[in-house]
Amino acid sequence: MSLTNISVLISGSGTNLQALLDAQERGDMPEASFKLVISNAAGAFGLERANKAGVETKVISSKDTSFLLKVLRESETELIVLAGYLPILPRAVTDEFCGKILNIHPSLIPSFCGKGYYGIKTHQAVIDAGVKITGATAHFVDAGVDTGMILIQEAVSVKWDDTPQSLQRRVLAAEHRILVAAVKAFTENRVVISENHCYIEDEMDLLVNMEGAFL
Ligand code: GRF
Repeated sequence: MSLTNISVLISGSGTNLQALLDAQERGDMPEASFKLVISNAAGAFGLERANKAGVETKVISSKDTSFLLKVLRESETELIVLAGYLPILPRAVTDEFCGKILNIHPSLIPSFCGKGYYGIKTHQAVIDAGVKITGATAHFVDAGVDTGMILIQEAVSVKWDDTPQSLQRRVLAAEHRILVAAVKAFTENRVVISENHCYIEDEMDLLVNMEGAFL
């Protein structure tokens, strides 16, 4: 089986990117080939992570759709991973790469998602709402915002004394685990799509991390 060419899009610290690179380094993703890391922000620390791992990087404005598409085509990208990428992908990209774009979101979609729900704001909203369970979602990207088919989720309990920062730390750890599982499954052709939902063969599609929960 030939390797899957992957381009990872970032905007910031790149801890999700790092989780992917570490997994490959450990030999956990033998079918993945990380060809490119593209950031819309020149100062994104994730670019340094990519350089350290020997992965080519590019800074492309989120407005420059034609150049983004040119770069994705020339690198023969077969999977796009949005790993903390903040801009909304243009329709031209989501159409051309339909079924080949994965995103990681810091909540259990369809809760706390869509316009305005990103980064620490998501966790603040979770705490303000008083919910007891949150988590992370890895999903396919369609033309909407956080509306594509859900592939895998991990639930994280909300502790009574959580701050947005303490909650973000636990959810981020869950993001790293399920993003690696989602990308690995895609590169190994273990994603099963039936009608309007999908799942991963040989994998639980709901993981539960009840650290701190009152069991
Ligand atoms: C994470 O919360 C991720 O879910 C969101 O962007 C944040 C930063 O991710 N999409 P990273 O550390 O840059 O990977």
